[in-house]
Amino acid sequence: MTAAAIELKGAAKAYGALAAGYALRPTDLTIGAGEYVAIVGKSGSGKSTLLNLIAGLDHATSGQVRVEGQDLAQLSENRRARWRGGRLGIVFQFYQLLPSISVLDNLLLAMSLAPRRKRGGPSARNRALALLGLVGIAPLADRTPGTLSGGQQQRAAIARALANDPPLLLLDEPTGSIDSDATLEVLAVLDDLHRRGATLVVVTHDPDVAARAGRRITLRDGAVVGDESAA
Ligand SMILES: Nc1ncnc2c1ncn2[C@@H]1O[C@H](COP(=O)(O)OP(=O)(O)OP(=O)(O)O)[C@@H](O)[C@H]1O
Ligand SMILES: [Mg+2]
Repeated sequence: MTAAAIELKGAAKAYGALAAGYALRPTDLTIGAGEYVAIVGKSGSGKSTLLNLIAGLDHATSGQVRVEGQDLAQLSENRRARWRGGRLGIVFQFYQLLPSISVLDNLLLAMSLAPRRKRGGPSARNRALALLGLVGIAPLADRTPGTLSGGQQQRAAIARALANDPPLLLLDEPTGSIDSDATLEVLAVLDDLHRRGATLVVVTHDPDVAARAGRRITLRDGAVVGDESAA
């Protein structure tokens, strides 16, 4: 059995006084290292909440979330940031590129957050340009995100998530704004990462995207209501 990459034990995210509502109800969930998992469910079902807990960008109000064997809530903000820089790639639902610097610099900044041994030195720029080429936007490298279309920004966000060749990748609707050709290209990149051993968790509404994953977890009203593995 493979080691768990992600382990939730009764992890929940409550909102309001006396837990008036749950974005995520108490959840037990284990995702093994190297798994490719799709998270599906209606709008408001808790998908982004779950990803934010796994990324340590938000903390469970009860229960525990362990990622790569560590309880992220127990780490200092500094150590959490360092862990993310070296181990985690994340594509946010609304991209969250830094608006005042170029697309290329968004990637170089992400690379500068990786531990020194992982940094590319002078080759970082070439690697960043290669990643932008991989998602089809190399000619836009010097533009700021605000001058890009939504789909172009989404591809920039995907390239940034890959900047440090992370073993754990969390993607929130990574193909929501791109056309079907670009979707196929992104899916091929994800397949390749998966083959190379990365753990992938992809939130998606797109059945084609979900079909690539080996496992599909369905959320409804903040609870896991389905968990199927492909035969
Ligand atoms: N700060 C907050 N205060 C109160 N409720 C919140 C807060 N943040 C999120 N929620 C609620 O938690 C639920 C889950 O939100 P979440 O963003 O995880 O949904 P989602 O599945 O990602 O939806 P979508 O597909 O629209 O992105 C929603 O009902 C949302 O309104
Ligand atoms: Mg969401």
